[in-house]
Amino acid sequence: MELIPLKENVGVEVRGADLAALSDDDFAALRRAWVDSGVMVIRDQALDGAALQALAARFGELESPPASERSARDGAGADEAPFVWYISNVVENGKPIGSLGAGEAEWHTDMSYLDAPPTASLLYAQEIPPSGGNTSFGSMAAALDALPAHLRAVIEGRTAKHNSSYTSAGELRKGAEAVNDPSQAPGVSHPIVRTHPESGRQSIFLGRRRNGYIDGLPLAESERALDEIWEFCGRDEFYYEHVWRTGDLIVWDNRSMIHRREAFDASSRRVMLRAQVKGDRPR
Ligand code: SIN
Repeated sequence: MELIPLKENVGVEVRGADLAALSDDDFAALRRAWVDSGVMVIRDQALDGAALQALAARFGELESPPASERSARDGAGADEAPFVWYISNVVENGKPIGSLGAGEAEWHTDMSYLDAPPTASLLYAQEIPPSGGNTSFGSMAAALDALPAHLRAVIEGRTAKHNSSYTSAGELRKGAEAVNDPSQAPGVSHPIVRTHPESGRQSIFLGRRRNGYIDGLPLAESERALDEIWEFCGRDEFYYEHVWRTGDLIVWDNRSMIHRREAFDASSRRVMLRAQVKGDRPR
């Protein structure tokens, strides 16, 4: 198994791994590389839902899909892999088979509105459009290391609310009500500087920009600080942009990473399989 860094601050490509037959030692090495690099790319894999679910289960107890994705998955016939769902723009029998459509998905951390957000997210490419739909992964550990002192002073020792109303594609989640005052929006608060329980490294943990709120600050002050921090976190040196090929598997660590996806031509097909692993409370 060969580990090739993708960029100075972020990511590793794993070559020569047979995912279906990984020994415990090889899996432990893979897991270490994933924690250390934040995002791991493994190309040329042939996985179905059951194989993806079995691999995800080696990372830990599986997390159910978000409520907003469940009905889409029910229609997709994934009975033997109930923890796997589709991210897709494809519509079959008048119904989308998956979530997020063909639009842009803004920078976010998966399901950080839970008390215990997921650790690993796995995304496997079954069908990829001819262009567009690249996914970028940003290291919030690298961003924290480089964060200007005046911004660090704002976030140190504080918590932020992670809003549960909207998806990363800007859609209101099923059952959620539109709330536009971030300090009043539903969600869960987590420390903004969190410590990775496996690596001990600290990173910025903000979830997503929309309806984010730094607890205890006047709203205008929170908005100003979040705008500045998010702009800083999106700097080129902190992220790796992945151009997908069919058969690519990516595993990222939500405890230290954010990700976003660019839009693609809605008349082309993009079909991705997705699974997630349960986490614990950020500290
Ligand atoms: C996601 O944001 O979880 C999906 C990313 C993608 O579709 O590439």
